[in-house]
Amino acid sequence: MSSDVAAAIELCGLCRVLPSGGRMLTILDGIDLTVARGESVAVIGPSGSGKSTLLGLIAGLDRPSGGSVHIHGQRIDTMSEDRLARLRRGRIGFVFQTFQLLGNLTALENVALPLELTGDRRASGGARQLLEAVGLGERTHHYPSQLSGGEQQRVAVARAFSPDPDILLADEPTGNLDSATGRLVLDLLERLRSRMGTTMVLVTHDDEVASRAASRIYLRDGRIVVREAGEGAGQAATAGEGGGHDQPQPAAEAGASPSPVARGAGR
Ligand SMILES: Nc1ncnc2c1ncn2[C@@H]1O[C@H](COP(=O)(O)OP(=O)(O)OP(=O)(O)O)[C@@H](O)[C@H]1O
Ligand SMILES: [Mg+2]
Repeated sequence: MSSDVAAAIELCGLCRVLPSGGRMLTILDGIDLTVARGESVAVIGPSGSGKSTLLGLIAGLDRPSGGSVHIHGQRIDTMSEDRLARLRRGRIGFVFQTFQLLGNLTALENVALPLELTGDRRASGGARQLLEAVGLGERTHHYPSQLSGGEQQRVAVARAFSPDPDILLADEPTGNLDSATGRLVLDLLERLRSRMGTTMVLVTHDDEVASRAASRIYLRDGRIVVREAGEGAGQAATAGEGGGHDQPQPAAEAGASPSPVARGAGR
């Protein structure tokens, strides 16, 4: 199947079926979704509806049982582990709900790690700048155990942005935070997103968080039941049962992020 090369993310008939207690359990059931470059999409739905599974498939952390995943026109669900790891390293940032910082590395080393993996010799300087951007310039040599939950989450955000990813996937990035710290982390994500032109898919239970995204999809029992475009409707993700690929692909004529970006969208 041909894919929309102008789209950041294109999911087609995505399914995930797992064996459970002697029978097959359908976790995702035919997800169609196109996300334009530079777009932000919130994924909302009850516990167990498949949100984290969806994010893991987009990141290539997991393989679908059916359907396809294209990232910038490249099909990733059939890619070798090596190629996938390389693509993920440079293009996809992931913010885990539980932070997943490495406990034996300082904040600075955690943020520098993805840069070092891409062979960037200025990893430490870049990491320091990002930590300053998230308000942790004074905490660079702290280990995760010496940081508060909100500070750890901000380090995780800085780390996800450190390789300057084209796509940032965040699984309930404010789920463990009080509302003020949560807002801080969201502001941060939004600031970094608009500065870097990053495409963002954000899983959340929080209506306020969801309302900030340009579009929203609601999952139930592994299906998209509602899709909603906000103010940026012209640039919103398209999704739906069978209809997603017949709809106009908004980024096609733009060819770039709708927000002012620090770099081109075509790398
Ligand atoms: N490896 C697995 N084996 C069996 N079932 C699984 C596995 N991973 C997830 N599931 C099931 O798939 C369903 C969807 O899980 P998922 O983690 O995607 O939900 P979610 O929407 O992120 O929920 P939450 O809001 O609670 O985080 C759940 O019912 C879960 O029990
Ligand atoms: Mg989840």
